[in-house]
Amino acid sequence: MARIDKEEEQAVLKVLRSGELCRYGPEESTVAAFEKGIAEKFGVKHALATNGGTASLIVALYAAGVGLGDEVIISGYTWIATPSAVVIANAVPIIAEIDESLSIDPDDIEAKITPRTKAIIPVHMLGMPSDMPRIKALAEKHNLVVIEDCAQAMGASVNGKRVGTYGDIGCFSLQQSKILITGEGGVVITDDDDLYDRARMAHDAGNLWGISKQSQAAFPGMNFRMDEIRGAVASVQLTRLDDYLQNTKIRNAKLRHAIADVDGIEMRKCHDEDGDCNLSVAFFLPTPDLAVKFGEAMGKHGVGGGPMYTHGNGDRHVYPNWHYILEKRTYHPNGLPYSHPAYEGKIHYSDRMCPRTLDYLSRAVCIGIQPDMTDEAIDKTANAIRLAARDIL
Ligand SMILES: Cc1ncc(COP(=O)(O)O)c(C=O)c1O
Repeated sequence: MARIDKEEEQAVLKVLRSGELCRYGPEESTVAAFEKGIAEKFGVKHALATNGGTASLIVALYAAGVGLGDEVIISGYTWIATPSAVVIANAVPIIAEIDESLSIDPDDIEAKITPRTKAIIPVHMLGMPSDMPRIKALAEKHNLVVIEDCAQAMGASVNGKRVGTYGDIGCFSLQQSKILITGEGGVVITDDDDLYDRARMAHDAGNLWGISKQSQAAFPGMNFRMDEIRGAVASVQLTRLDDYLQNTKIRNAKLRHAIADVDGIEMRKCHDEDGDCNLSVAFFLPTPDLAVKFGEAMGKHGVGGGPMYTHGNGDRHVYPNWHYILEKRTYHPNGLPYSHPAYEGKIHYSDRMCPRTLDYLSRAVCIGIQPDMTDEAIDKTANAIRLAARDIL
């Protein structure tokens, strides 16, 4: 089935014909309906639609009161939007190692906590859940806020509990490459009434819709509102979530089964196989050099592949390529947040500061799984992996 189908078309047409494109126009807003649907699906009190995953992260950081003087621990493997959002909130990103699950290593989180640490942002990359029970326990022990970056992982879970509901706030993206899509779009979820009020203020230029003037939540915000057209698409997309995940699950299992007896490759660890969105099959080669050769050999057998990180490959999912973060650049020459006296730390970034992250990613080969991947495509991929292993290992 196409990712965008007749139902989305009809829902969008309905909005266009109504002439009410902003959520505050119609009596029955599509954005409000989407938020209601998300809150029900995730079993949370509040969902707030935004216009992107980056916007969601910024809203969450503002809602949590993260700002000047604060440090936020994030994963060394994430899209550049995660550290960028932290800097935009005037806090300092502290980059932590990942482990064999390709998500943030809780031991390294703990090693990097300082008196300035305010929040942790675990990122559920490629739809794979981070070790949320441990991260949550760490946060409770050190009194830290947890903001989950679930941009790539709508529907993932750990021990039956969905990611996005472990942290104080969960942030999702609906951008074109994600599980549910509106082109651009996002949503934040929380059970906390105050965080929700603050998130609403942050995402809506400090508008006081339904928030009393006396409320502590009142402060100037941005405009990260979702519009009715996207609300309409998002509401339909949400009805497709379970099917999407079922389809990736079947295909992922088929591919993994087909390569289960290949010697010399080691599957990446997952904190909960049942809670994986199954968007990829990733495995490690013994060395980075072998991973490069393995990718080349797969290419010869008709399927593109290769390590997730090679030095200088420019992929902004991997921290050495976040040059404007590592060089502490910001939009203004005053150098905030790094230079402000409220920040008492002395952060020094280097492209080699998380060697284990680089080791894992430079040895990892990752195959993307699509919900409509055909049996032929799965067989062809499995075959290329088997032949590459025969040629190289
Ligand atoms: C892990 C992660 N965080 C945040 C984002 C930002 O989402 P958006 O592009 O919707 O702003 C993305 C998008 O690619 C992402 O992959």
